[in-house]
Amino acid sequence: MTWATGTVIGPVTVGPPAHGGHCVARVDGKVVFVRHALPGEVVEVEVTEDTHERYARGDAVRVLEAAPGRVEPACPVARPGGCGGCDLQHADLPTQRELKRQVVAEQLRRLGGYEWAGAVEAVPPESGLGWRTRMRYQVTPEGELGLRAHRSHRVVRLPDQGCLIAHPDQPVPAGDFVPGTEVVVAGRGEQAAVIVDGQLVHGASTLLERAAGRTWRVSADGFWQVHAAAADTLARAVMEGLDPRPGETAWDLYCGVGLFAGPLVEAGVSVRGVELSRRAVREASRNVPEARFEAGKVEQVVRRWPDRVDLVVCDPPRTGLGRAVVDQVVRRRPRRVAYVACDPASLGRDVGTFAASGYRVGSLRAFDIFPMTHHVECVAILET
Ligand SMILES: C[S@@+](CC[C@H](N)C(=O)[O-])C[C@H]1O[C@@H](n2cnc3c(N)ncnc32)[C@H](O)[C@@H]1O
Repeated sequence: MTWATGTVIGPVTVGPPAHGGHCVARVDGKVVFVRHALPGEVVEVEVTEDTHERYARGDAVRVLEAAPGRVEPACPVARPGGCGGCDLQHADLPTQRELKRQVVAEQLRRLGGYEWAGAVEAVPPESGLGWRTRMRYQVTPEGELGLRAHRSHRVVRLPDQGCLIAHPDQPVPAGDFVPGTEVVVAGRGEQAAVIVDGQLVHGASTLLERAAGRTWRVSADGFWQVHAAAADTLARAVMEGLDPRPGETAWDLYCGVGLFAGPLVEAGVSVRGVELSRRAVREASRNVPEARFEAGKVEQVVRRWPDRVDLVVCDPPRTGLGRAVVDQVVRRRPRRVAYVACDPASLGRDVGTFAASGYRVGSLRAFDIFPMTHHVECVAILET
């Protein structure tokens, strides 16, 4: 069975959520990943992509039987064919968190052999709106600011009200934009930087952020946790999970500007950090002068590091650690590892690799630091 793009199929009964912001349905023996739907709903699905033998993708364009958690999205472009960002705005916040809980639990069980019984924790603000401190706009062919559609280069015009998940103190740049360019706004208030196609056109090239009791210097186009409350939330979860003791040693892997190294040195721990970006390493050295930072790839740099370490924090990109880095970590027999993960599938796979070396999940917390989207952040504590 193959459907042409744009074919509307249904009625379709929607099944459980899957990793990636969609629910699973079966139509004529074929899996269909349906966006903008909720489990248990009966919907009509417009096919958006059918290039694989085993599955197709589609959007719920008409809801015949709604699930109890369904709400009207507050944003006019958070709907089929619209912006690719808020793929869960059609669900109330408890339902969004329940969907994410199911995805995290399923990935950890299937890939990591770990049964997670926790819940996804809410992070203020309560509304789930106004939290993004970094926005990436695309310019439409008409020269207006817009946002990218899902799995497409198409740009959807930014609604007059702006993006509802952007922080209210983030300026929305005005002016004439060149069609096809990218406009990044980083930070908040007076210092907010506007970067057009990689060139700083307004504001400071270095932002100052407050978190974990320190002020952090961060390049306007460098990495900083995007939810206004994320840096504090994650730093606290890592510290509670590691429970560091004065005199211990720790590694901050994928350290960025040193977010986790900061509270660790405050706790009397001797910290080494490693990060790919040379500029971030320079900033980390200024942010946390008590720690030693090195620029390079984690998988290469840690090979040269001492044979023993007590604590490890790792906060890798979506691809996760992979076997080579897990092997380097477990070889040092740390007392605890705090794994900060933005992709539950990579986390699940790496948890399985840790388990083969005797490291089990002692605790796992999940945080709703990307409300209105399917993304979720986990902090897993591994120990022997
Ligand atoms: C999710 S961010 C975490 C940054 C920091 N822990 C924080 O919370 O602000 C991941 C970081 O890993 C860095 N990175 C990506 N691949 C890397 C690699 N192979 N080795 C070292 N760092 C890497 C990126 O530059 C980025 O700063």
